[in-house]
Parts: sequence; structure tokens; C-alpha cells
Amino acid sequence: MQELLGGTNIFLIGMMGTGKTTVGKLLAQELGYRFFDTDVLIERVTQQPIDKIFTSIGEKNFRQIESQVLMEVAACTKSVIATGGGIVLRSQNWSHLRHGLIIWLDASVELLTARLANDYTRPLLQKTDLTSRLNSLFEQRRSLYTQGDLRIFINENDTPEMLITRILAKIPSKIISSFEVYKNKNKN
Ligand code: S3P
Repeated sequence: MQELLGGTNIFLIGMMGTGKTTVGKLLAQELGYRFFDTDVLIERVTQQPIDKIFTSIGEKNFRQIESQVLMEVAACTKSVIATGGGIVLRSQNWSHLRHGLIIWLDASVELLTARLANDYTRPLLQKTDLTSRLNSLFEQRRSLYTQGDLRIFINENDTPEMLITRILAKIPSKIISSFEVYKNKNKN
């Protein structure tokens, strides 16, 4: 698998609560890759937790720092990068994501609601009806998430290990088909 990937980064995208961090750490271990989490890097740079950043400088500035962090981390190789759920919103972020293999972790709003019911760390989900908030965020973002290279649907009883098995099974065919597209484009 490592040979097939040739050091290509893997980006995990998807809604809050899909388990990008947990799955990402495990996937990195399996591949002998480094692991990064854009939210953790943002917190390190700003010396503030994500919810405080939203209240102190607002979402727009948060998104700017997020783009900067993504740009820096995308310059690495052999890395699995778990991204914040809103990374897909800025078109400039896609130029970095596109350099790697983008895996969309997808789950129903029902499952996300159950997982996030007691979460107080995500600023976009506070003081609001959780299900309707998640539904509207997902509606805004669905068409962006579908632009990922691979979609892994998460069921209620899936363990991170089961998801890794599914991801590892799907990567080779994706890489080979991208290579075919590349060859056909460059044939004369
Ligand atoms: C956000 C998702 C969060 C974090 C911030 C905004 C979003 O990351 O970046 O609260 O806009 O969906 P996770 O997806 O890791 O929770």
C-alpha cells in the first residue's frame, strides 16, 4: 500500500462527529504515516481552544487561519490529515486538498446528533436545535463533500478498525483509476 501511495497525503473530510481524528490516527499508524489534525494545529498557533477563537476573532478569521494551517501541512508528504468539517467551504482550500487523496467520512444526521448531543466544544452547535443545525450545515456542504475521492459511509455499529479496513480496501482501485485518467489525458 505504501508503495502504491508513493507518499501521497490523505485528507479526511466530513461533518463534525464523523470521527476524522480517531480514524485518522489509526490510518496513519497502519500506513506508517504522520498524523495531523488541522483543529489541533490551529489551537497550537493561536494558543486558544476552537470555541474561544470563534468568540474572540469570529468565524471568518478562524477560516483564514484554517486555510493557512492547511497550506502548511499540505506541504508535507506521508501524512494523514484530519480536517475541520468546514474546510471544504473555501475554494482555495481545494487546491491543497487536491494534491492528496481525499476521503469523505459520511454519516447520517441521526447518528451525528446522537454522537454530538453532549458536545460543548463545537461553537457552531451551541444554543441551537442540534438536529436542524446539523441538517442545514449538511445541506450547505453535501455537494462539496461529494467532491472527495472516496466516500466511506459510517454506520452506527462500525468501529474505527472496521472503517480502516474499508478505507484500505478502497484506496488501490481509486489510485489505479486516477492513474488511468492521467494516462488517457496525456496520451497523444
Ligand atoms: C467546524 C468543525 C470543527 C471545527 C470548528 C468548525 C465546522 O472541526 O473546525 O468547530 O465548521 O464544521 P471537527 O469537524 O473536527 O469537529
